[in-house]
This record gives sequence, structure tokens and C-alpha cells, in this order.
Amino acid sequence: MSRRNKITIVGAGNVGATTAHWAVQKHLGDVVLVDIQDGFPQGKALDLAESSPVMGFDCKLVGSCGYDETADSDVVVITAGVPRRKDPKTGQYTSRDELVEINRKIVAGVTKEIATRSPEAVIICVANPLDAMCHVAFHESGFPKERVIGMAGVLDTARYKYFLSEALGVSVEDIHGMVLGGHGDTMVPLPSHTSVAGIPLTELLPQDKIDAIIQRTRKGGGEIVGLLGYSGYYAPAASSCAMVEAIVRDRKRVLPSACLLSGEYGYNDLYIGVPAVLGKNGVERIIEMKLGPKEKDMLEISANAVRDVVKLLPY
Ligand code: APR
Repeated sequence: MSRRNKITIVGAGNVGATTAHWAVQKHLGDVVLVDIQDGFPQGKALDLAESSPVMGFDCKLVGSCGYDETADSDVVVITAGVPRRKDPKTGQYTSRDELVEINRKIVAGVTKEIATRSPEAVIICVANPLDAMCHVAFHESGFPKERVIGMAGVLDTARYKYFLSEALGVSVEDIHGMVLGGHGDTMVPLPSHTSVAGIPLTELLPQDKIDAIIQRTRKGGGEIVGLLGYSGYYAPAASSCAMVEAIVRDRKRVLPSACLLSGEYGYNDLYIGVPAVLGKNGVERIIEMKLGPKEKDMLEISANAVRDVVKLLPY
């Protein structure tokens, strides 16, 4: 009997459970949800599995606090981590350095468990700070760089396209463009490479409106936190799922992904968001776009921001 694709999602919280939800809805494969809170991944998996007769999917769902069930996964999505929190006593938010230290340990531990049981898997890192956590997963797994990638660009691009479609009153499907760079305030939206069904964006929207949308995109994560009090998860999960789909269906989709660069765009040994062809082997090719001087400067600022976080890591 042929075997279905196997997708492991570590972290059964908001992003992880919602990624599982989209994945089975799209019939992408069997899903194993892993979390440290006993009962949580099992409960999420069972609840979702019980929706299958209504929703019409046959993918199997398993929840576990261990890793044996994850063996021989094709793709592993790592969402395990803690968000930045406000200390109720001091009113202070977790500092960036503290967050790196906490999530580094979580992602390192998870990656080791995954790598021994699924040595051929493609790892998609989602935990934040994203670009730094990709470095952790890369070093701890010992996998080739093509099989350790990060999800940020698809989400940032989705937000950018959504805001543009709203401003232009056209379908989201007709907006083509990309956001590169690191995940954070220094991300690099590329209006000069954005089109509406092939028509350059710059012919359709005045510069001040484009600038406002770029700013809103950069602050997109914070806008949701401001409304909900915690991070968004529908769009992050849909974006993770798009990457999973490109891999398990070998679609060769061109998706902005955090990739370890080896000379591309002039950078070395740094994870940064670039257009990548994703197929069953993970990153099958990185596409080098021609960037203008202003875009190159923005990418440099973004790369420096990523370097600042990466230097906190012990690699
Ligand atoms: N192993 C497995 N699961 C873990 C571990 C661990 N070592 N540590 C934490 N978790 C689990 C938590 O128990 C929780 O269920 O990870 C889950 C995280 O879920 P949420 O707190 O709901 O966070 P979420 O919004 O899903 O974000 C997850 O993605 O976008 C990023 O910044 C975000 O790093 C964060 C991650």
C-alpha cells in the first residue's frame, strides 16, 4: 500500500494547531502534532480528527508528547516556542536577548529529536526570532541547508498583498510581489517588482499610498498583537501550509523563504528571506533578483539586524 505524506508539527498552540487544520483540509498528508503540555496535542488532534467525516478528509491525525510517532516524516514544522510576554510585576516585556535564549533551547531540543527520527525531512522553522531560530535548527540538525528553511516571507508577502488588494479594490489573486529580508521591522517589500496582473504597481497607486502599505506590512505582526493581545495565527499557519504543500506536492513554487545564503545577494552563512524554488528536496534553487541601490541598502539593513541576533547564538 502506498504511504501518505507525513507532516510533523511541533507546538500544538495557535500556529501549530491551525497549520494542522489547513494541512488536513488540503489533504496534504497524515499529521503528527507534538507539544510538551500533556493532553494538549492529543486533544487538538482528536478534535480535528473528529471533524474529518464532516469536512471530508482522510488524513490521519495523532497527538503526542513524544517523538516516536514522528519517525520518517517528510516535513517538520517547528512552531514550539514562547512569545514575548509582559511581566505582570514589573510591566517589562521579555527582552529580545532573553527570548533568543529561551527559544534557542526549545528549538535546539526539538530539532535533535526530529533529526534522529526523520533524517530525510525538510524542516520549516516558524518559531521566533525566525532567522536566528533557522540557524539553530540548521546547526542542531546537521541537515544540508536546502532542508532547513524558515517561514516569514510568505506571511509578510501575504499581508502586503492583502493591503494592496484592499487599496486597489482588486482580487488578491491578481497581486504579484514579494517581501524579502529578515522577519521584522527591517523586512524589504519590493514595490518595483510588484504588479497587478502584470501592470506595474507604481502605475496604479501613488507613492504615498505605497509607502503607507509598506509601513503597515512592516508592523503587521504588531497590529494583530495590538488587537488580540497575542500573535496572529491564521495567516502564519496558512503561510506555513503553503510551504508544506510546495514540498510534499513537489510543486516548485517560488516562495520567499528564509534560506542560508552562500554568496547569493552577496551574503554568506546568514539566513535571510529570498525567493526560493520549493519542491520535494526543500530549497531546489535560490533566485537572485536584480535589486536597485535603494533595495540593496534596505537588504543590508535587514541583514545587519539578523546578524545582531545571530551573534547571540553559540555557533
Ligand atoms: N516542545 C514542544 N512544544 C513546546 C515546547 C517544547 N520544548 N515548548 C513550548 N512548546 C509549545 C507550547 O506548549 C505551546 O503549545 O509550543 C506551543 C506554542 O504555541 P503558542 O504559545 O500558542 O504560540 P503560537 O502563537 O502558536 O506561536 C508559536 O510561532 O510565530 C511564531 O512567534 C511565534 O515563536 C512563536 C511560534
